[in-house]
Amino acid sequence: MSLEHDLESVAIDIAREAGELARKRRDAGVAIAATKSALADIVTEADREVEALIRTRLNEARTDDGFLGEETGAEPGSTGVTWVVDPIDGTVNYAYGIPFYSVSIVAVRGEPTPDAWEALAGVVYAPVLGELFHAVRGEGAWLGADRLAVNPEVGPAGALLGTGFGYDPATRPGDLELIGRVMPGLARDLRRGGSAALDLSYVAAGRLDGYFERGLAPWDLGAGSLIVAEAGGRFGRAEPDGGPRAPLVVAATPAIFDRLADAAGLR
Ligand code: IPD
Repeated sequence: MSLEHDLESVAIDIAREAGELARKRRDAGVAIAATKSALADIVTEADREVEALIRTRLNEARTDDGFLGEETGAEPGSTGVTWVVDPIDGTVNYAYGIPFYSVSIVAVRGEPTPDAWEALAGVVYAPVLGELFHAVRGEGAWLGADRLAVNPEVGPAGALLGTGFGYDPATRPGDLELIGRVMPGLARDLRRGGSAALDLSYVAAGRLDGYFERGLAPWDLGAGSLIVAEAGGRFGRAEPDGGPRAPLVVAATPAIFDRLADAAGLR
């Protein structure tokens, strides 16, 4: 088995176990453990427990790899491979009992920052929806056993787009202004799902034509960006206006990527 396939299989097993734990904890009731960057930015007890489980399992399976997790931070490894992990992407959905949340795990080579890494294998697992999106670098992306491909074209009514908002209220005017630039002339409608990892996977599956958001963290976009690219989509990330605090991400079918990127101000 190639290194990439080996990493994918490790990630799939761990994501399934982690997702089931998240679901079980949700059924038992959610405890908010703390707020983070803003009042709306919460971490639940389950986020911490699920990340701890993922970290333990990765340590058992791939002892010398590095780790970068949303809740517990970074630990360098010695193999050149780092695991970038969001234990529950869509924490607010999770807290409210909305099933659109996921476990996101990606193995990357190189510096574990989106502009520098080479993503090798990634998984996004939505335990309540029972959907597992996965991809291997250079080989493709799948939903379960089904090969994924982005929509080849966009109909005359326009593109179905997804977006999201960061937790900092100060970024809201900019987010709304961005929507005002992107929607006219391009979008038939807009969805705000609440899990960037799933939004990106939805672009890969043709359930969205494109997606844009400012302020995503590496663990929000790592696995999903590989899944989009391996489904034939395009993914771009830049820091056009707000600098490192508000990087802009655009992902879409090639049929609209350039128009969406231009309207969003990616380049
Ligand atoms: C959040 C989700 C959400 C996106 C936010 C992210 P979290 O991740 O992906 O959809 O709009 O920007 O922070 O906090 O639930 O892991």
